[in-house]
Formats: sequence, structure tokens, C-alpha cells
Amino acid sequence: MTSQERLSVLAGREEIAKTVTRLASEINRDYQGKRPLLVGALKGVFVFMADLVRQLDLPGEIEFIRISSYGAGRESTGKVKVVQNMETPAEGRDILVVEDIVDTGLTVSFLLDYLSQKNPASLKLCALLDKPSRRRVQVNIDYLGFTVPDKFIVGYGLDCNEEFRCLPDICYLGD
Ligand code: IMP
Repeated sequence: MTSQERLSVLAGREEIAKTVTRLASEINRDYQGKRPLLVGALKGVFVFMADLVRQLDLPGEIEFIRISSYGAGRESTGKVKVVQNMETPAEGRDILVVEDIVDTGLTVSFLLDYLSQKNPASLKLCALLDKPSRRRVQVNIDYLGFTVPDKFIVGYGLDCNEEFRCLPDICYLGD
């Protein structure tokens, strides 16, 4: 049972807040004079996205897209598809994809390929967490919050079978 597993804090709320401020200032600097379209990959990104956009000093627009990759459980199925698309056209836009975690990289590389086929003016990636030990495809992360060990991460929007999303800290399950 997941709820009986040990939960340890990887990054507490103060450290998260500092990191989000750093990421927002990098994005503010790089997108000055532009109107980026921020595309959040649901569902895990919702907490990070909400904190990030409130620190942006840009006339940005927000979109969400939902990609299925895992289903229930902790292992990627390796099969990725768009299950809820965004409404705003991507063509000609400066798109910044916002992800919660890059693990195998399959989900975000599918999303970047999918969006690049829509002819955006530019396409970059902001990820709160990077778990490089499990990477199966190469992914370039333009704005990165934390590099994390090979643990199952929950909290701050990330779940395990829909549990733990609302924890304010970034935690991991197990020892
Ligand atoms: P990837 O395709 O393996 O890179 O996985 C991407 C998606 O899987 C993320 O957007 C998360 O939704 C989910 N995921 C991967 N690793 C974790 C984790 O440690 N905790 C919670 N969700 C994860």
C-alpha cells in the first residue's frame, strides 16, 4: 500500500520557492519583449505552473495539454498519446513547455516533437525535476529546477496513483 510507505522530503517549500523564483527570472530575462505561450503538461504540473506564472513579468498565455504515458502505477507504458489537446494554435508562437518531471524522457520528447510539427517560432522546455538515471531518449532541458535521484517522487503536484499531489513539499517514497 503506497500510503503506508515511508515518505521523505527531498526539497521543502522554502527551497522550492527559491528555485521557482530563479526559474522565473531566467524566463523573464530570455523572453523579454515576447508573448510566450506556456504549455503545461497535465496533471502533475498544475502546482508548479501556478507558482511559476505568478512570478512572470511577461504578457504570457497559458495552455494545458494532457499526455498519457503511465496509466496507473509507477512504470512508463512507453506508449504516449495526446488525451486532451490545447485550444490555442501553436503556429508562429514562442512556446515554452512546462513539465513536472523528465524521467525516461519519452513523454516530453513526444510532446516536443508533436509541437514542433505545428511550426512554432521557438520551442523550449522548463522542467521542475530531472531524473537522469532513467533516461531512454535524449532531452534538452532549457530551464531546470532540481536533479533528483532514482526514487519515486510525490508531492507538489506529483502523484502515485492520484495520491500525494497536494503535499506542499517534494518528497520521495520508500527508503
Ligand atoms: P517519462 O515519460 O518517463 O519522462 O515520464 C513523464 C511523466 O511520468 C511525468 O510527467 C510524470 O507525470 C510521470 N512520472 C515520472 N516519474 C515520476 C515520479 O517519480 N513521480 C511521479 N510521476 C512521475
